[in-house]
Amino acid sequence: MRTFSILSAFIFAARVLAFPSYASLAGLSSRELEEIVPTLQFKPPPTPPGPINDTSTKLVNDAAHPWKPLRPGDIRGPCPGLNTLASHGYLPRNGIATPTQIITAVQEGFNMENSLAVFVTYAAHLVDGNVVTNELSIGGKSPLTGPDPPAPASVGGLNTHAVFEGDSSMTRGDAFFGNNHDFNATLFKQFVDYSNRFGAGKYNLTVAAELRHQRIQESIATNPTFSFVSPRFFTAFAESVFPVRFFVDGRQDDGQLDMDTAVGFFRDSRMPNGFFRPNGPQGGSGAIDIFNAYPIKPGYNNGTVNSYTFDPTSADFSTSCLLYYNFVNQTIKSLYPEPKGVLLQALNKNLDYFYAGLGGEPSGCAQVFPWGT
Ligand code: HEM
Ligand SMILES: *[C@@H]1O[C@H](CO)[C@@H](O)[C@H](O)[C@H]1NC(C)=O
Ligand SMILES: *[C@@H]1O[C@H](CO)[C@@H](O)[C@H](O)[C@H]1NC(C)=O
Ligand SMILES: *[C@@H]1O[C@H](CO)[C@@H](O)[C@H](O)[C@H]1NC(C)=O
Ligand SMILES: *[C@@H]1O[C@H](CO)[C@@H](O)[C@H](O)[C@H]1NC(C)=O
Ligand SMILES: *[C@@H]1O[C@H](CO)[C@@H](O)[C@H](O)[C@H]1NC(C)=O
Repeated sequence: MRTFSILSAFIFAARVLAFPSYASLAGLSSRELEEIVPTLQFKPPPTPPGPINDTSTKLVNDAAHPWKPLRPGDIRGPCPGLNTLASHGYLPRNGIATPTQIITAVQEGFNMENSLAVFVTYAAHLVDGNVVTNELSIGGKSPLTGPDPPAPASVGGLNTHAVFEGDSSMTRGDAFFGNNHDFNATLFKQFVDYSNRFGAGKYNLTVAAELRHQRIQESIATNPTFSFVSPRFFTAFAESVFPVRFFVDGRQDDGQLDMDTAVGFFRDSRMPNGFFRPNGPQGGSGAIDIFNAYPIKPGYNNGTVNSYTFDPTSADFSTSCLLYYNFVNQTIKSLYPEPKGVLLQALNKNLDYFYAGLGGEPSGCAQVFPWGT
């Protein structure tokens, strides 16, 4: 008994010592938080960057930002945009970044519009990042940090399923099938096939609508755990538009993405030689048109395939404040039921920034305070 408790105390201590500064605190018990938080260096979350002044198109695959292959331990994940920014040095090449670095990088490298960048980045950071150290992994954990000594049960990062990352991605499999983050060549073949059939060899908004519908139908028919509720309900349509908005050279600017360029971004995290970012700030406009091409209600398979069931509690395109309310009051609150001290302080700051990204008061959505004001 005594030996056992010494041993378990030792294992617990090793676990705490092994807690990477970028591992998420989301979902940890109060006891784990009491042990782990004091070992972390608290970085008060700084004010998010504003818009960039010069939003014209320009060379972004430049001498200061060469593509480099991965080194052992470098982390990549489900987002081809962030992967590419890391492989070109707009983000730290190891794949661990602060929200400020991410917002700056998506604006500089891809001309992402400021409020969208702020909203998406804090959404991801709140559920997948370490809000105390202010670090977020753009994938999972580094292969060099585990398993000996034991890695924390919860590592977080953008690979985490069902809080931000979700099902029916274009080039990544559903988590149910075992890998939700690496480029999948079979799925990309379908991306090319759809671009041939509906875009004369290019990916455009017409292809985006067809492929989005196809990926949803595939998940309904093959994934018994398929879930397509908010926030995934929104991000799936937005991300279908992103290749058209962000991966087409700003001088070309015709909304037609060729397949060589596409495979570079999706598979290799690589901009074409001489790539110019889009001209002017870009957001997710067009997502609603993709939705309208094949309208579907938010829902999920109930444990068997082909059992897609409407979820009336999920936000959809007609109830967008609910996206914010549910994300904060349900998703984030359930990951952090009773935060205290610097953790509570950091969460509240990040929630303020997230609300600012939504548009603040003028958005028409009242700010919510899951742990009181
Ligand atoms: C602003 C910070 C960003 C965050 C936190 C973020 C996060 C994510 C995450 C978690 C996913 C996976 C969702 C899923 O498919 O399950 C994703 C997918 C995607 N992201 Fe990002 N992203 C960001 C910015 C960007 C930018 C700037 C681009 C384009 C340059 C981009 C392009 C995409 C695309 C195309 C997908 C869909 C991949 C697919 O369906 O195969 N993202 N992003
Ligand atoms: C952007 O413009 C503002 C106002 O003209 C100026 O104060 C600021 O320094 C500029 N920022 C950069 C990064 O050039
Ligand atoms: C890629 O996706 C296909 C189709 O969903 C699946 O059959 C295959 O197992 C996946 N491949 C890998 C390596 O995950
Ligand atoms: C996509 O490409 C096809 C084939 O060229 C074309 O008919 C269609 O209008 C294009 N759609 C968009 C939105 O550019
Ligand atoms: C799941 O949905 C299917 C098809 O709609 C239905 O037949 C089945 O009874 C449902 N099962 C559960 C557990 O709700
Ligand atoms: C969110 O949760 C807070 C605290 O529990 C509560 O006061 C507020 O009414 C909730 N707001 C919504 C829109 O659910």
